[in-house]
Amino acid sequence: MDTALSISVPDELIVALRQARSITVLTGAGISAESGIPTFRDSQTGLWEKYDPHELATPEAFARNPELVMKWYRWRRDIIMKAEPNPAHYALSAIEQKLSDFHLITQNVDGLHLRAGSKNVIQLHGDLNKLRCSGIRAPGSQENASQCSFSTTEWQEDGIPLCPLCGSFLRPDVVWFGEHLSEDALKAALAVSKKCDAFFSIGTSGMVEPAATLAYEALRSGAMVIEINPHPTPLSVYSQYLFQQPAGQVLPKIVMDVWK
Ligand code: OAD
Repeated sequence: MDTALSISVPDELIVALRQARSITVLTGAGISAESGIPTFRDSQTGLWEKYDPHELATPEAFARNPELVMKWYRWRRDIIMKAEPNPAHYALSAIEQKLSDFHLITQNVDGLHLRAGSKNVIQLHGDLNKLRCSGIRAPGSQENASQCSFSTTEWQEDGIPLCPLCGSFLRPDVVWFGEHLSEDALKAALAVSKKCDAFFSIGTSGMVEPAATLAYEALRSGAMVIEINPHPTPLSVYSQYLFQQPAGQVLPKIVMDVWK
């Protein structure tokens, strides 16, 4: 059976979404799975099944072995550059065109929402298309570096690029374990989660804070919560609507039923 045919959007959800004045969406790695980008925690295929985040995705790992960390991120960036947005990304950008008060918060660093045409995007965990100054000086250069504001989208083929302003190593512009999220991004994400009428949680395991808390903030503020994820998460039991199918099939169906 074609799974797309088995997706049914309840009438009361259609009505509620048509009436919603403000919609906020949180996405995670699962929304890009159908674009061929590996998730983190899926069994067998998740990146953290094969790789140790402590060796690759912490400031300490970068200070210890910047070559290894850069090599890993260069590999991930190559996958992302070759990937294309899928129907789920396009569906969200279509909703944004229908509704002025629409906000998309993503934990993904792949830039696929922007490439699909979404505009109001809060990139909570940064952007893998960019490099920024790490403040960690290359061996042999002046000590006492402090991170400067340099940032670029120019990656080089190999090695560790240096900041042209202060000589420090450049690093991927993503948030690592043990690091704080951008205060502005988090503040904006909290604000749009608390004020929306409907909150979608899509393709995220809900295991990483503070992103995981946003759906509960929305619930506490009276929003209707809709989860799209083939597998159960801690949020599933609290969600008013649960679609346990791939986002690339569910979201286009919702757009068709509600907004076409
Ligand atoms: P996870 O890998 O933890 O979770 C991905 C979720 O997507 C799982 O719950 C899957 O069931 C679901 N999924 C898989 N395929 C799907 C599909 N086609 N449609 C919808 N859902 C699908 O990824 P995140 O929750 O995004 O952080 O992980 C959060 C953060 O942990 C990431 O941003 C990253 C990671 O460590 C940093 O690197 C800071």
